Amino acid sequence: MQTVKRAARFLHPLGAAGVVALVFLQVYLIAAYIFGDSGVLNSHVTVGRIVVALELLVFVTALVGWWGDRYEITISTALLVVGTFQALFAKDIGSSSEVHALHGLLALAVFALAWSTLVRTRAEVRTAGAV
Ligand code: HEM
Repeated sequence: MQTVKRAARFLHPLGAAGVVALVFLQVYLIAAYIFGDSGVLNSHVTVGRIVVALELLVFVTALVGWWGDRYEITISTALLVVGTFQALFAKDIGSSSEVHALHGLLALAVFALAWSTLVRTRAEVRTAGAV
């Protein structure tokens, strides 16, 4: 059990770092799409699904690695919930451009939540998830 907890504490900041990096990539890809490269939208969608998978990883590793730490679990839950809605606003939620635009706006909230998680827990990578 201790090994699983150490693995979770090691993977948690790495998942958050992945989300942070991929938000930058997502903004770049969508900008390339806006500037005329229609082919990159597929990459944006694929990377977007990876981002949501990483948000799930951050949530699960918070539950396993920080059980009892309400703050860490709350922020990770917020990342997963906001991230899921952020992805759904692209197409599945809403029928107006004003609502779909929340997809772009909420990318900033996803970034902020993932960045704060990374900053708070990055020491776990150096200490290999020591508990
Ligand atoms: C955290 C960063 C982002 C993630 C994880 C993400 C994820 C996704 C996903 C999963 C889809 C596919 C939705 C579907 O097919 O159901 C998508 C589509 C899209 N995204 Fe993003 N995205 C991000 C940032 C952005 C930003 C910053 C913009 C623009 C300001 C943007 C604009 C779009 C557009 C225009 C589509 C196509 C919607 C359509 O097919 O009708 N995305 N995104």
